[in-house]
Amino acid sequence: MTRGRLITLEGGEGAGKSSAVEAIRGWLISKGRQVVVTREPGGTPVAEKIRHLLLDPATGDLAPMSELLLMFAARAENLDKVIRPALAAGQDVICDRFTDASLAYQGGGRQLGAEPVLALADIVHPDLQADLTLVLDVPVAIGMARVHQRGEDSNRFEQTRSDFLERVRLAYLEQAQRLPERYAIVDAAQDMGTVRRSIIDQLEERLA
Ligand code: TYD
Repeated sequence: MTRGRLITLEGGEGAGKSSAVEAIRGWLISKGRQVVVTREPGGTPVAEKIRHLLLDPATGDLAPMSELLLMFAARAENLDKVIRPALAAGQDVICDRFTDASLAYQGGGRQLGAEPVLALADIVHPDLQADLTLVLDVPVAIGMARVHQRGEDSNRFEQTRSDFLERVRLAYLEQAQRLPERYAIVDAAQDMGTVRRSIIDQLEERLA
C-alpha cells in the first residue's frame, strides 16, 4: 500500500486556517482520497490535555525550552496514535500546524533558534516530513484584528507582543524561502474566496 500524504497548514494568528482545512479536505475528497484531519498541539486525548496547558493564559510564563518540549511531547502522541497509522493505511492527513510551527514560534518567536527544534524533529520523526506545507501569510496587524473580531478569549500565544508575532511571521517566510519544493505561501490577507482559490491552485499544481 502506498503511504498517504501529509499536508500541513501553517500561519500566524488570524490567518484563517479553519476555512483552509475545509478547502483542502474538500479538494482531497473530490480526488477520491480518504482524509484524516488533526491539529497540533493536540489530536489525541493526551495531546489535547497538553494543548490546554500550552494555550491557557493561566499557565503564565513557561521557559521556552519547556514549551518546545511540550509541543514535541504532544507531537509524539499525535504521530503515534493518529498520523503514522493513517499514512500507513494510505489515507491523506491534514495537520493543522506541525513542526514548522515549532520552528516559527519557539525557534523564531521565543528565539530558541532552529537548532534545538531540528534536533527534536530528528528524534521524534526522523523518517517523516510533510509532503506539502501551506503557509497562510498575513501581516500581524491584520491577523490580530481578525482574532479580536472573533471575540473569543485569546490564547497564551495571541497575548504575546507584536514583535514576537513579527518574528514568527519572518521565520515562516525564511523557511519557505529555504525549502521552496515543500512550502507554498498563500497570501491570506485577501478575502476568503480568493484565499480558497489560491489554496486549490497550489494543491492542483503540487499534489494532483
Ligand atoms: P491555533 O492553531 O492558532 O489554534 P486556533 O486556530 O484554535 O487559535 O493555536 C495553536 C497555538 O499553538 C498557536 O498560537 C501556535 C502555537 N504553537 C506553537 O507555538 N508551537 C507549535 O509547535 C505548535 C504546533 C503550535
